[in-house]
Amino acid sequence: MAISPLCLLVLAGLLGSLATEDLQKKVFVFPTASNSAAVFLKAPIQQPLTSFTVCLRYYTLLTRAYGLFSYATRRNSNELLLYKFNPNQYSLYLGGSNVSFNLPEMQGSQSDWEHICVSWDSATGLVELWVDDHLLPRMGMKKGYSINPEASIVLGQDQDSFGGGFDINQSFVGEISDVYMWDRVLTADEVNLVWNDLRVDNSLIDWRDLDYETRGYAVLHPPVFPSY
Ligand SMILES: *[C@@H]1O[C@H](CO)[C@@H](O)[C@H](O)[C@H]1NC(C)=O
Ligand SMILES: *[C@@H]1O[C@H](CO)[C@@H](O)[C@H](O)[C@H]1NC(C)=O
Repeated sequence: MAISPLCLLVLAGLLGSLATEDLQKKVFVFPTASNSAAVFLKAPIQQPLTSFTVCLRYYTLLTRAYGLFSYATRRNSNELLLYKFNPNQYSLYLGGSNVSFNLPEMQGSQSDWEHICVSWDSATGLVELWVDDHLLPRMGMKKGYSINPEASIVLGQDQDSFGGGFDINQSFVGEISDVYMWDRVLTADEVNLVWNDLRVDNSLIDWRDLDYETRGYAVLHPPVFPSY
């Protein structure tokens, strides 16, 4: 029986939107520095965001700067960006502004997997950064702002334009896992659940049901030692 082109189109569309995967106990490995390796994530964000939480786990030996979570819009490549200038400094960019959290000095590079959650709330402007189960002193930015929903979301690279503009010197080299995003600020108890790899429902990005596409040399793989 002949299948009409329209039928195929509809089918392709369905498959496209259904191609999500449970990545529990898997990691994305970014094995080398490049300006091409990236993982693009899709999130069903329909409305401007007035709060969010992003959590992920990663392991790297980099001591230079790199992007960890890059959410670009057509107007602003740093609409929402979690960036590390060095092993002791996390920066959050939001709509063109930034705040930096300076951690106590670590010797050299990171010695194990690290879990982080970062959240922001427009009503107060407060930014919370959790490193493992530790909440750093809160900072504030962009009170009253809302985040544009039409985004290109990328792991492994810092976008300097919508969906591209990658710089090898800001690429991530290492392993990333357990990426989640919610449209609200998680409570301390919820952050603790996520840290322990337990479920907090209703996420926009869900590692257990991930809509993603890898490009370049990025490898989905089981972790060598499931040490977390
Ligand atoms: C981060 O924000 C500070 C002001 O708080 C500004 O001076 C600096 O240029 C910003 N950095 C970048 C890279 O945008
Ligand atoms: C990356 O850094 C290296 C060494 O610092 C430099 O030689 C090179 O020009 C940089 N590449 C880009 C694309 O900025």
